Amino acid sequence: MPLMDEMEPFGVYVHWPFCRAKCPYCDFNSHVRHGGIDEARFLAAYLTELRHFASLAPGRTVSSIFFGGGTPSLMRPATVAAILEAIAGHWRISDDVEITLEANPTSVEAENFAGYALAGVNRLSLGVQALDDRCLTALGRQHTAQEALAALALAKQHFDRVSFDLIYAREGQTARDWENELKLALGHAADHLSLYQLTIEDGTPFAARHAGGTLRVPDGDEARAQYLLTQELCESAGLPAYEVSNHARPGSESRHNLLYWRGHDYAGIGAGAHSRITMDGGKRALSATKSPEGWLAAVEARGHGLDHDEALSAAEAADEYLLMSLRLREGIDLARLAAINGRALDETRLSALAQDGLIDRNGARLAATPKGRLVLDRLIVELAA
Ligand SMILES: C[S@@+](CC[C@H](N)C(=O)[O-])C[C@H]1O[C@@H](n2cnc3c(N)ncnc32)[C@H](O)[C@@H]1O
Ligand code: SF4
Repeated sequence: MPLMDEMEPFGVYVHWPFCRAKCPYCDFNSHVRHGGIDEARFLAAYLTELRHFASLAPGRTVSSIFFGGGTPSLMRPATVAAILEAIAGHWRISDDVEITLEANPTSVEAENFAGYALAGVNRLSLGVQALDDRCLTALGRQHTAQEALAALALAKQHFDRVSFDLIYAREGQTARDWENELKLALGHAADHLSLYQLTIEDGTPFAARHAGGTLRVPDGDEARAQYLLTQELCESAGLPAYEVSNHARPGSESRHNLLYWRGHDYAGIGAGAHSRITMDGGKRALSATKSPEGWLAAVEARGHGLDHDEALSAAEAADEYLLMSLRLREGIDLARLAAINGRALDETRLSALAQDGLIDRNGARLAATPKGRLVLDRLIVELAA
């Protein structure tokens, strides 16, 4: 059975790999260029790479577009508009397309919001991270809490849909601190919140400090308590988790994120961007070179910056779908899983996991229970095996 039909969701991700400053916890493909960026040259390269993807995935209907980073709110609105226009030239655009842009909440970037809305962006995702100035400084952020709240208020004026990100289980943060901060955040929330537990990423300044014992973060029981508190407070505020770290009013889930977790196709444009495209009945995993200048040179030389293109086997595609969809509260669509690799999950193993209260099977779907979500990595290994 083919994995793709024309009406299946299809997303376009556009990666802007530059930031004003590098936050010490972040290992995203983001770079600081004090000498400035030739934005016109990058735009030309985005348009070129889009043409390449249009040839790889013709005839699709784009249901979501996501400008991520890095810091896409450093892009000029005219650049965003030109990319959107090119996407509409290559594919049909769904009537209810979701177009998200990730923004950092400095006052300078907030000045671009009106321009992004005019360009067609209809959803803004703001990286607030913390609502306390001392913590924002510790996270290396370039904005204050007041500035972030002002940017959030402005975003609500310009966009129908607004989300913001916070990071918890930060240095020295207690469950009580997080409770107060999250209650404040919920008071400002629009329709969506992304709440990430701080991850110490290898190779970052935070990892070095953590290894050296000068950065202590809540872990084990303390981090779990903060996670459970997050679920409880968001649920009672009407923004239940639809994914491990993502909360929304029902109906306001990010369609672009859902597309990843539900195993649909997407074209990723820009340095380091990943893509999943169904071709000839199988999934291909593609990714571009991470260096922005390396990517630019590659696109100018040969029309795309891809340095990896792999046909996934049915088993690999099924494991990937399992890994992604188990993060969702709605869980796995068992028929979709069977269509990918043609085999059912092991019944004995499923019964054992259900008996332990870790999974819940509801007709055509299989989902992790709240208890199962606490040990998601173990569950994925058990189900994929
Ligand atoms: C691609 S990042 C950046 C968006 C934007 N540049 C910003 O910083 O606001 C998307 C989100 O990932 C989260 N994030 C990045 N590094 C993280 C880490 N080490 N632990 C937890 N969350 C992290 C942050 O909440 C951030 O808003
Ligand atoms: S968290 Fe955002 S602003 Fe900070 S370095 Fe990462 S991508 Fe850039």
